[in-house]
Amino acid sequence: MKVLSANSNRNLAKEIAKLLDMGLTNANVRRFADKEIFVSIDENVRGQDIFVIQSTSFPANDHLMELLICIDALRRASAMRITAVLPYFGYARQDRKSEGRTPISAKLVANMITTAGADRVLTMDLHAGQIQGFFDIPTDNLFAGPVLREDIRKNYGTEKLMLISPDVGGVVRARGIAMRLGADIAIVDKRRPKHGESEVMNIIGDVEGRKCILIDDIVDSGGTLIGAADALLKQGAIEVSAYCSHGVLSNGAATRIAESKLKELVITNSIEQPQKVLDAKNIRQLSVGPLLAKAIRRISNEESVSALFD
Ligand code: R5P
Repeated sequence: MKVLSANSNRNLAKEIAKLLDMGLTNANVRRFADKEIFVSIDENVRGQDIFVIQSTSFPANDHLMELLICIDALRRASAMRITAVLPYFGYARQDRKSEGRTPISAKLVANMITTAGADRVLTMDLHAGQIQGFFDIPTDNLFAGPVLREDIRKNYGTEKLMLISPDVGGVVRARGIAMRLGADIAIVDKRRPKHGESEVMNIIGDVEGRKCILIDDIVDSGGTLIGAADALLKQGAIEVSAYCSHGVLSNGAATRIAESKLKELVITNSIEQPQKVLDAKNIRQLSVGPLLAKAIRRISNEESVSALFD
């Protein structure tokens, strides 16, 4: 068994390899002068069970192409089995035709990963669970829920706690964590008047006097969380924090979060963050390295992955 890292999340890949008691596979993922990507695998991988760690985070297209080319190189080097490990699966929000004449890019990306030669996929907190069905190869979708839940218990306790889904689509996710913490849930009725903009219509549930924690899969511009925090405080919440699996944090989101009424935003390291985010006073990062390492070990040993969440 071997672990190979492309360039999107080398720190997480190193952490995973260390937890698995091995080094990263010697490989070089670099650019030609015209920015074409070139990969060389610098050790024998014939007959190996290989896990390629690469989130398709910003810049999504470059990182996706790096992943595809790594898989191609491994296939041509006679690896026995190739698992594409995407701690963050980009393009996931394009999982349906939201209007006429638009693509389903998540399906296209799934096809590309399969065609490149991946035998299986390991990912985490897919934007919608059904995206697993876009792959015709085995796909394991891990949940960061247990990692987030234990941090909530440790840092916020359960008294007066209320978990909040920032939209109707996230209710199952918030409820899963709330049930195990014995907390209530409320729902934000969110509308998207335009692409990239969100508007809070209503809060479903009584949040007065509650410590509110928003649970979401992705924080991108931060608009959803910031709008929800303002509305919750207006309805009498004592404080509002947020836990999100994937810190996409594009276009100055970290600054907007720092200037917002959110007490704290907690994300995982599924996406590698620039120093500015790591230094932000109200953003904290949890590691999903141990979760991914356990899942990789189990896949390699042909053991149950779902048992990790029993
Ligand atoms: C949407 O359905 C997702 O779950 C997130 O709520 C969304 O991607 C967050 O985006 P933003 O931070 O730009 O509001």
